[in-house]
Amino acid sequence: MSERKIPTPHIGAGEGEIAETILLPGDPLRAKYIADHFLTDVTQFNATRNMFGFTGYYKGKRVSAMGTGMGCPSIGIYSYELIHFYGCKNLIRVGTAGALRPEVKVRDMVFGMGACTNSNYIKQFGLPGDYSCICSYELLSRAVKAAQDRGLTYHVGNILSSDMFYDSDLPKPGTSWDRMGVLAVEMESAALYSNAAYGGANALCILTVSDSLITGEATTAEERQTSFTNMMEVALELA
Ligand code: HPA
Repeated sequence: MSERKIPTPHIGAGEGEIAETILLPGDPLRAKYIADHFLTDVTQFNATRNMFGFTGYYKGKRVSAMGTGMGCPSIGIYSYELIHFYGCKNLIRVGTAGALRPEVKVRDMVFGMGACTNSNYIKQFGLPGDYSCICSYELLSRAVKAAQDRGLTYHVGNILSSDMFYDSDLPKPGTSWDRMGVLAVEMESAALYSNAAYGGANALCILTVSDSLITGEATTAEERQTSFTNMMEVALELA
């Protein structure tokens, strides 16, 4: 892109410090965990606002990991800067989600083929209708293969990017997004997918189910760690 003014207001990296493929957890300490446990020859490229970002190598391939914060506006800022100012081509969100459907169990993995949203984020593109936020088919098919190779339980389908975590009016099962087959709720993917489309980049959201809005079941911290490791190995295969 022509508009390359770096460092940006939110990312302190210099030219070439960020890999073309980047993993994006919401929590910056998860980005540090990825760097510490999965990458070699690591350099840190960002600490602005403590939104840590790292670049290293996984199985010989250069890859980065950086936090995004929570919600569409936050991931919207970081993903825009990564795509337009740093030339990132493959942006892979790795996060958690709440299950909306009974067949989606805690600890399962969900690949967000599409992202519905109740956020106004998409409206900012000024389109004359409703935009369908979709992932990169290439990244999705490679991620599915990596999950199959590992024998992991996964689902592929629509997810919901919600602006509200503490929703005061949770819909009754069978009456809302779940009725339309939407598998799980999180808070960022619609912004990531629309920004990637706008910037000509590829994006995928990989989630592990941390809780169920149907059964009320939730994972323990230890279980979240194990499912996080599985998800990370799948995501890193995309480097
Ligand atoms: N809502 C939104 N985001 C989430 C949830 C949820 O219930 N669980 C994990 N991420």
